Amino acid sequence: MSVLTETAAALVSGGKGILAADESIGTMSSRLEAAGVAPTEENRRAYREMLVTTPDLADGVSGVIFCDETLRQRLSDDRPFPQAMQDLGILPGIKVDTGAKPLPGSPGDTVTEGLDGLFPRLQEYVTLGARFAKWRGVITIDRTRPSVAAVRSNAHALARYASACHQAGLVPIVEPEVLMTGSHSMARCREVTARVLQAVAQELRSFGVDLAATVLKPNMVLPGSSSGEHASPDVVAQATVGVLIEQMPAELAGVAFLSGGQSPRGATANLAAMQPLPSPWPLTFSFGRALVDPALAAWRGEADLIEAGQQALSERTSANSAVLTGSAVV
Ligand code: 13P
Repeated sequence: MSVLTETAAALVSGGKGILAADESIGTMSSRLEAAGVAPTEENRRAYREMLVTTPDLADGVSGVIFCDETLRQRLSDDRPFPQAMQDLGILPGIKVDTGAKPLPGSPGDTVTEGLDGLFPRLQEYVTLGARFAKWRGVITIDRTRPSVAAVRSNAHALARYASACHQAGLVPIVEPEVLMTGSHSMARCREVTARVLQAVAQELRSFGVDLAATVLKPNMVLPGSSSGEHASPDVVAQATVGVLIEQMPAELAGVAFLSGGQSPRGATANLAAMQPLPSPWPLTFSFGRALVDPALAAWRGEADLIEAGQQALSERTSANSAVLTGSAVV
């Protein structure tokens, strides 16, 4: 097994998942402000320090994704974040795209940018200690969207990024996110997710990407958030695992879902319902909001609430890890 294959397997196995703490400076600043915390560089650092120093984090978390700013910051004890993760036996990762931008010629659609100069940036991230990377393509559903151009350009960028990661010595997390936002039905989400995954699989093949050293981070198949439709965890699990098996090669190292704006408990319940279904891959979590929202709300930027924030994170990581190992019913 190559080092990259081993790293990819380690990210998705052992009853563990990934903590996505890689919000861009802009997004993180808005979330801090919404929680009543001043959006400074130091507060973004302190927030990430609160998260990653949670006792026993490594019991449920295999890897943490950072953004460029955090990867270069240090904990209060002066260790760089990647070093501190390595000391805990947690793999440090880095978000390397530069965001979803309007796609000219396709009103309302976006394409994720960041390919220019990507390879030397990846090489630098390796020297800073990163072991894996993440790139998120964003697909919006409405009556006419996504366009063929949006699906193809995002899939193409994801494959170019994945191939560059392998060349640089990083495991790529390939994240094609079909947004939950909108009034579309669950059936429409399934149909669009199928189109997107099919395009991603095709581009990964064209670029000769080694799938055993690649982790897929897809959305779950859900009704649009303003559709008024409700789907039980069993229905979500069937549709989600079904579309993945239909479209994605069995060789992938694993599947680590994003939470996409679901409630923390809802995301865990849906992940739990997938576990008994037959699948060629481990099905785990790479949640952002569904892990960190309760922690941010409990911490509120107060030094004497660090423990409360960590307890809130710990509750979510243990709940998700427990459904993977079958040691808990949600
Ligand atoms: P959410 O789980 O909040 O969707 O975030 C995951 C992520 O990494 C988005 O890129």
